[in-house]
This record gives sequence, C-alpha cells and structure tokens, in this order.
Amino acid sequence: MLHCQSVSWSVENRQILDQVSFDLKKGEPLLILGPSGSGKTTLLSLLAGLISPSAGSVRYNDQDLSAMSRSDLDQFRGQEMGFVFQTLHLIGFLTVRQNLLLAVSLPEKDIPETKIDQTLKRLGLLELSDQKAGKLSTGEAQRLAVARAVVGSPGWIFCDEPTSALDDANAEAMINLLKNEADLCGASLIIVTHDKRVRNAFEGRACLELEKREARA
Ligand SMILES: Nc1ncnc2c1ncn2[C@@H]1O[C@H](COP(=O)(O)OP(=O)(O)OP(=O)(O)O)[C@@H](O)[C@H]1O
Ligand SMILES: [Mg+2]
Repeated sequence: MLHCQSVSWSVENRQILDQVSFDLKKGEPLLILGPSGSGKTTLLSLLAGLISPSAGSVRYNDQDLSAMSRSDLDQFRGQEMGFVFQTLHLIGFLTVRQNLLLAVSLPEKDIPETKIDQTLKRLGLLELSDQKAGKLSTGEAQRLAVARAVVGSPGWIFCDEPTSALDDANAEAMINLLKNEADLCGASLIIVTHDKRVRNAFEGRACLELEKREARA
C-alpha cells in the first residue's frame, strides 16, 4: 500500500504541491493529470523518494521514505520500483540485453537469464537481443524501455509522460503494453501525463488532478 499523506513541496518560495493525499493499493493503477508546470514530475520524484517533501509523508506500508537511509532508499527503489521516462534514457552503446542486465545488476537483483529472455520475448525483442540500443526503431526502443522497467518485477511502475511523443497507434500500443506488463507483475501503474488519450484509456480508474499554482511574488 502506498500512502501519500498531505504532501507539499516548495522551491524558491513557490509552493508547487499543496497537501496532496491519496492511498493506493499495490496492483491498482493511478493516473495523475495536470497542465504543464502543475508538479506532475515533482510528485513522481517524491513518490520515488528522489526528493523529500517539504511537509507530509510518502509511505510504502509502514516505511516512511523520509526516515530511510540513503542506501536503504536506493535499495528499496531498485527492488520495488520501475521507471519509464518520456525520453527513454536507454544506453545506446549497450545491446538490448545489456540494457536489461544493467537494470537488474545495479540493485543487485538475482534475475535468472531465462527471466530476461522471457521479458525480451514478451516485448518482441528477443531477436534484437544483441543489437545496440542506439540502433533500435522508435517503437522497439519504447518496448525496451518498458522491458527495463518491468524485468525486475517491481511492485510500482512510474511513468512520466510515456506517450506524449507518440502518434496515436504507438501511444495506444504503449498504454496496452504498460497495462499488460503491470498486470503480469501485479504492480501498480502510476502514470503522470497531460495526454487525453491516456485519460480515455484509463476511464473509470483512480485519477488525481493537479492544478497549476500561480507563482508568488
Ligand atoms: N529543482 C527545481 N528548482 C526550481 N523550480 C523547480 C524545480 N523543480 C521543479 N520546479 C518548478 O516546479 C514546477 C513544476 O514542475 P514539474 O516538472 O513537476 O511540472 P510538470 O507538471 O511535470 O510539467 P510538464 O508537464 O511540463 O512536464 C515548474 O514550475 C518547475 O519550474
Ligand atoms: Mg513533467
């Protein structure tokens, strides 16, 4: 269970987030919507423990991220979280397989080769295992980004604008891939976006709307 409790975040005298609260059961999806500058990426960084709230708390079950040591937090993030970014952040000079191996070796996850192969196969990348990531097509690169996020079977998958650079067909494929992969892991899919296509695909599911707050003088 993720508890985001009265989370506020300020920077340079500007309050970006004001008392954001929600609870999310592991496995349940959450869509976070809001205009540019409303604090979507900031909220994702808070939920992942990359930054700390100015007030309030982010807890996973009984663990308050702010109370964890840096190394425990890194380990928790590596074990429990997967990320898909708008700009994919693949490592172009490594092969497809090496990108996945790196994703699981940094948090020292003991993932058998068969699991890597299964993930590559599910995402249609097995034949491209030894190709450099920098040489992939846009669609292949997106699938590798999803593979990297899910190969370690995380409990929480965070996606920052995963579809904003995509045409309709690729955006739909991306949303379906993310949903399927999250279901297979039993993970929560947490997507921040201002893309209406994602909103339509998540009709009827939990949704949090952020407002843009005016800058104070
Ligand atoms: N480290 C920082 N220093 C100063 N301002 C920051 C910092 N981080 C975020 N901000 C400001 O906080 C506001 C929210 O930023 P954030 O990136 O979370 O918005 P967003 O909703 O993700 O926007 P977009 O849809 O454009 O990605 C912006 O006005 C941004 O300039
Ligand atoms: Mg953003």
